[in-house]
Amino acid sequence: MRTSVPQILEMARRGERITAITAYDYAMARLVDSCGVPIILVGDSLSNNMLGYEGTIPVTMDDMLRHAAAVVRGSEHALVIGDMPFMSYQADEADAIRNAGRFLKEAGCQAVKLEGGRTVAGTIRKLVGFGIPVMGHLGLTPQSLNTIGGYRVQGRTVKQARILLEDAVAIEEAGAFSLVLEYVAAPVAKLISDRLQIPTIGIGAGPHCDGQVQIIHDILGLAPDIHFKHTRRYAEIGEAIRQAVAAYKDDVVAGGFPAAGESFAMKPEDEAELASL
Ligand code: KIV
Repeated sequence: MRTSVPQILEMARRGERITAITAYDYAMARLVDSCGVPIILVGDSLSNNMLGYEGTIPVTMDDMLRHAAAVVRGSEHALVIGDMPFMSYQADEADAIRNAGRFLKEAGCQAVKLEGGRTVAGTIRKLVGFGIPVMGHLGLTPQSLNTIGGYRVQGRTVKQARILLEDAVAIEEAGAFSLVLEYVAAPVAKLISDRLQIPTIGIGAGPHCDGQVQIIHDILGLAPDIHFKHTRRYAEIGEAIRQAVAAYKDDVVAGGFPAAGESFAMKPEDEAELASL
């Protein structure tokens, strides 16, 4: 059984901290799901982490759906949230409804996430009204990077804090079941978390959110040369992969792989006949 949206709300009500993490493919989804993480986010960070684009603007609905479906196939227990990519919900509400619906119908997700404050509140209300649970996303919203001007912490002034709080309230009133706060000054994330009934899920937003979300590449060190202040490295998998592949290459070059035990034999009498072929 998968974690449901009401169960996430119940966890928050009980004061249980909510863990969320991104996954973008079947193999990683299986591993993450087996750890009991209640939320897997198929983030549009797929764009940079898996597809090698510079930011999240280029990733398409088709890219997102293909990966979201793989994550759903790889998981049994987690609530899987599909992240709506740039321009899949901004142009008009009909577009947003169709595209959000595709995450549920075609990929098998249980909810969607979209970025923005009051400007997307009407869209969120519509989606929720049609039975599509929505996670909001405020603070540093990478789809607006061209407006924000770079990866900057948000809510560092009282004026910015007020705007964020008003946006957060609008997202909650529109019916979102949770809200990601990305790169938000910790005291502001605390204020928003205290004011909202729905759980806030922080990334670079300090310890006072109701839950945390991390990008799996960051906590596993899959890109060993990239370090962010807001992440913690729980493993150095990137370096482990480098060492493993280098050792494999050395073995192949030296003739040490495969060994007899890693090969398939024939019956000796059949093998003896091979020379006559
Ligand atoms: O795309 C993503 O991975 C996200 C997280 C940073 C929350 O939106």
